[in-house]
Amino acid sequence: MPDTPQTWHYGLIAKWWSEFNDDFRPHEVPYFQRYIEHGGQPALDVACGTGRLLLPYLRAGLDVDGCDVSADMIELCREKAASEGLAPTLFVQAMHELDPPRRYKTIFVCGAFGLGSTREQDFEALRRFHESLEPDGTLLLDIEVPYADPKQWRYWLREERGALPEAPKPPRERRRASDGSEYALRSRIVELEPLAQRVTLSMHAEQWRDGLLQAEEDHLLNIGLYFRNELLLMLERAEFPNAIVQGDHNDSEATSDDDFLVFVARK
Ligand SMILES: C[S@@+](CC[C@H](N)C(=O)[O-])C[C@H]1O[C@@H](n2cnc3c(N)ncnc32)[C@H](O)[C@@H]1O
Repeated sequence: MPDTPQTWHYGLIAKWWSEFNDDFRPHEVPYFQRYIEHGGQPALDVACGTGRLLLPYLRAGLDVDGCDVSADMIELCREKAASEGLAPTLFVQAMHELDPPRRYKTIFVCGAFGLGSTREQDFEALRRFHESLEPDGTLLLDIEVPYADPKQWRYWLREERGALPEAPKPPRERRRASDGSEYALRSRIVELEPLAQRVTLSMHAEQWRDGLLQAEEDHLLNIGLYFRNELLLMLERAEFPNAIVQGDHNDSEATSDDDFLVFVARK
């Protein structure tokens, strides 16, 4: 595994996120916001991307900084903030190298833990979250459970894995961006390693204008897959001994039917 996290949030994919992902999983926005509002400032949005969560919080007048490993995502986030007259503190940093300019009451990580990194780096990230919190601060960190996606889950079985890598398929329908160009993406599973609990996905991205292909890119994403109990143990080792696990951003105790889990860990 390279030192720099292997994630695909660059170039055309970053542009796609910025254009089309603001309305993705809207219930996550109020979930984290309540923690920040109730004594949780200042807060840090780790892996803030292009600001899907960060921008609504800034609009609400909350004191939130953001960081992300992708300079492209941070740049687009900065542009979107500036277009609304906002100037948040944003910095480019992998979470396992987190070294923020101040300490926080809340650190939240949404849709990003385990992306592109090794297990050692993920543990180091937890350690740094602990270090970067104020004494009574709270870490909120979510994961999508490995069994959430039936298409991916079947490749945990040896007899199904023979079908990998999946064959490239044509990109999905194009979507028109604010500058008039059109974007299309197509992802596929390349490899799944049950022993290492790791899946590798490949994304093909295209940009079109006036019916002509302007650019195309291919990016890889490695995802470290975690189950509830191992992450609780890792949190304990990182000095978060009393973490609780909630269901899909819903304040209730997690159940087997939840595709997403949120770990709420107090320092
Ligand atoms: C699925 S997006 C989620 C963005 C944002 N948190 C949201 O919910 O809209 C994942 C983000 O994690 C960032 N990322 C991936 N691996 C990372 C790492 N190891 N450290 C910091 N950021 C990372 C990517 O660049 C990308 O912006």
